[in-house]
Amino acid sequence: MEQPFLRATDIVKRFGKVLAVDHVGFEIRKGEVLTLLGPSGCGKTTTLRIIAGFERPEAGEVRVEDQSIVCVQKGIFLPPEKRQMGMVFQSYAIWPHMNVFENVSYALRLRRAKESLVKEKVASVLELVGLSGLEERSAMLLSGGQQQRVALARALVYSPKILLLDEPLSNLDAKLREQMRVELKNLQRRLSITVIFVTHDQVEAMTLSDRLAVMRQGRIEQIGAPQEIYEHPRTPFVQEFIGRVIWLEGKVVDNGGRSVVVGLNGDESAHIRCEATDGKMNHGDDVVIAIRPEEVKLSFEQEGDGFNQLPCRVETAVFLGDKYECHLRYGATPFALPPSRAEPVSAGQRVCLKLSPDSVRIWRKGGQNGEL
Ligand SMILES: Nc1ncnc2c1ncn2[C@@H]1O[C@H](COP(=O)(O)OP(=O)(O)OP(=O)(O)O)[C@@H](O)[C@H]1O
Ligand SMILES: [Mg+2]
Repeated sequence: MEQPFLRATDIVKRFGKVLAVDHVGFEIRKGEVLTLLGPSGCGKTTTLRIIAGFERPEAGEVRVEDQSIVCVQKGIFLPPEKRQMGMVFQSYAIWPHMNVFENVSYALRLRRAKESLVKEKVASVLELVGLSGLEERSAMLLSGGQQQRVALARALVYSPKILLLDEPLSNLDAKLREQMRVELKNLQRRLSITVIFVTHDQVEAMTLSDRLAVMRQGRIEQIGAPQEIYEHPRTPFVQEFIGRVIWLEGKVVDNGGRSVVVGLNGDESAHIRCEATDGKMNHGDDVVIAIRPEEVKLSFEQEGDGFNQLPCRVETAVFLGDKYECHLRYGATPFALPPSRAEPVSAGQRVCLKLSPDSVRIWRKGGQNGEL
């Protein structure tokens, strides 16, 4: 890997008894978008605030290019305004008593920029985010999407080296959110700016990032390209968090080297043959099977040796205009398949779910990779 643009090493931060950030480390290349993704309270905002300089870590170091901007061991702490980072906060935090121009120019004025430069910079950044002409509008009279753009303009106005975005789209309705997601990606590409993006929305994370860091309880559980994480999750938690999963429990009944056969609990006739994806497994081991619903096929009859086929009952089949959305039940487990153009099925019908061996992952129950 080329020399990283930013490197965070072994960051630790506690709030009282809460270990908010637990030995977190990552690297970002110049122009890359890295997303911190994880459930509420896993430490995303705290990590971002440490990078920005609004929070002091108890241990660890952050370097940007050749400079250490915080290093606990050496007592280095560069204040936020010297870090050349632009941040959009989780709540936008735009000033309601100021108009758009005042909101966006504030940071430049703090840095005592010349009036002519302030005007020029604000005009160009407002154009960038699509707010030209609204300079005089009071912040109180802006829509959610416009407020979000003001927050973005404010973070970009002094040409930061790194843009830190903390759930910038979370207050928008679904449609606007999708539109802003595309705009944000285009803007990032145009500026080739390095971004750390925080979200707990996996679609947002998948579409905006070059790499994802999936966080859980203050730690990074896996970091990599979206596709790599989707296809090769390292833990059940990561698999559950990225994409949809049908979980079934069973026991290993045969282990022939790299492939194992699992008998499903409560269904003597169902056997799943799959690759041993969680280390060596022994006969009798308790396991959990994870199936990606988008990778299964529906058929109307059992075939061949009966491996990797689950008899299911159709609960409902909703016609969406051009596709069917099918809700099924296997034993006591309900699940939905993604809408498809498959042959129509109707409620109550018996069908068979076919699983290819590589669409199934197997995890040791209560293993070292942890439960969900
Ligand atoms: N100033 C604070 N004082 C005390 N505890 C805090 C403080 N800030 C964060 N925490 C705690 O640290 C943990 C991590 O919080 P953080 O805000 O980083 O989570 P997050 O991943 O951003 O969550 P969310 O998705 O809800 O924004 C949580 O348990 C939180 O309650
Ligand atoms: Mg947060």
